[in-house]
Amino acid sequence: MKRIPTIELVPGMKVAQNVLNFNRQLIVSQGTVLTDNLITKLDAYGILDVYIEEEPKEPPQPVAPPHVSSYSERVKSSPVFQQFKEDYEHNIDSFRDAINNVVEKNIQLDVKKLLSDSLEVISNSNGQIGVLDMLHNMREYDDSTFAHCMNVGLICNVFANWLKMNEEEVELATACGLLHDIGKLLVPRSIITKPGKLSAEEYAAIQKHPVRGYDMLVEQNVDEHICNAALMHHERSDGTGYPGRLAGDQIDKYARIVAIADVYDAMTAARVYRGPMCPFRVIEIFESEGFQRYDVQYLLVFLENVVNTYLQNRCRLNNNQTGEIIYINREKFSRPVVKCGNQYLNLLEHPELSIVEIL
Ligand SMILES: [Fe+2]
Ligand SMILES: [Fe+2]
Repeated sequence: MKRIPTIELVPGMKVAQNVLNFNRQLIVSQGTVLTDNLITKLDAYGILDVYIEEEPKEPPQPVAPPHVSSYSERVKSSPVFQQFKEDYEHNIDSFRDAINNVVEKNIQLDVKKLLSDSLEVISNSNGQIGVLDMLHNMREYDDSTFAHCMNVGLICNVFANWLKMNEEEVELATACGLLHDIGKLLVPRSIITKPGKLSAEEYAAIQKHPVRGYDMLVEQNVDEHICNAALMHHERSDGTGYPGRLAGDQIDKYARIVAIADVYDAMTAARVYRGPMCPFRVIEIFESEGFQRYDVQYLLVFLENVVNTYLQNRCRLNNNQTGEIIYINREKFSRPVVKCGNQYLNLLEHPELSIVEIL
């Protein structure tokens, strides 16, 4: 049996030991053969590594070459994305410097400056391609904690606009996202990058990042919602999160927004064996287990808006048929009506079918 970091898991690997979450609830049981969905789920639950059975007699499974969808290619070759990428790379450097100044040199955090720098990244996006899609495709270039924080901040910005918050609230939500994982930068790098098995103390150190981030932000005298978002973004509406096992309204509303943006960013990350995950699969995972864990109203608005981006787009189904997404079913956003040739396929009535790729 071998411990493999979640980020290096590949479909087909067999789980050698039950995987439990922070509350010791079973996530994946021993003997399960991993699928792409399960790996994403493990990631969404913040599982850092998994024990995998070693099969010395079997030849190693060939790893499929990274698969990049043509939609992804189209996004990446567009001038809007090229501009976005340039702005992103420029701003991630100043973001990193600003955060490092706070973490390492205890220099006062300038939230306004942080906001204006990061928002510059999306100021040139003109709506042709959604910000979420562009962020999605940036993950192949930079997977650091800084990039994750920047992404979550920008997703929160888009999300807060979808929630029709006023300008001040949108800025606050963005700042909450930008700073939500600042506590992770206080966890020794040796633990974060440690290749071997983590001890119980090391796990505990990583799980302290919400409290450490909160303490630091309180000292910086920033808005209390920003502090709360750092403290509570791993809390879940059903009380299964950490560190406080808070439930429902006990969780700051900005932390509830950040929680959704945070998991969305983690789920859409590209992996070694494939490009970014199809958004319909992400939505399906949220729909299958998200409604107890996240704020239902917020999650509905988020998923509906994500889905609407793909209306009238062409897609490929798991049976290889291609068609156009022509109608969104509000009772299940992951199962729209797809027009294939002259045939209208309502995916609500076809549980065996699913969208696997946006074309
Ligand atoms: Fe976190
Ligand atoms: Fe995070």
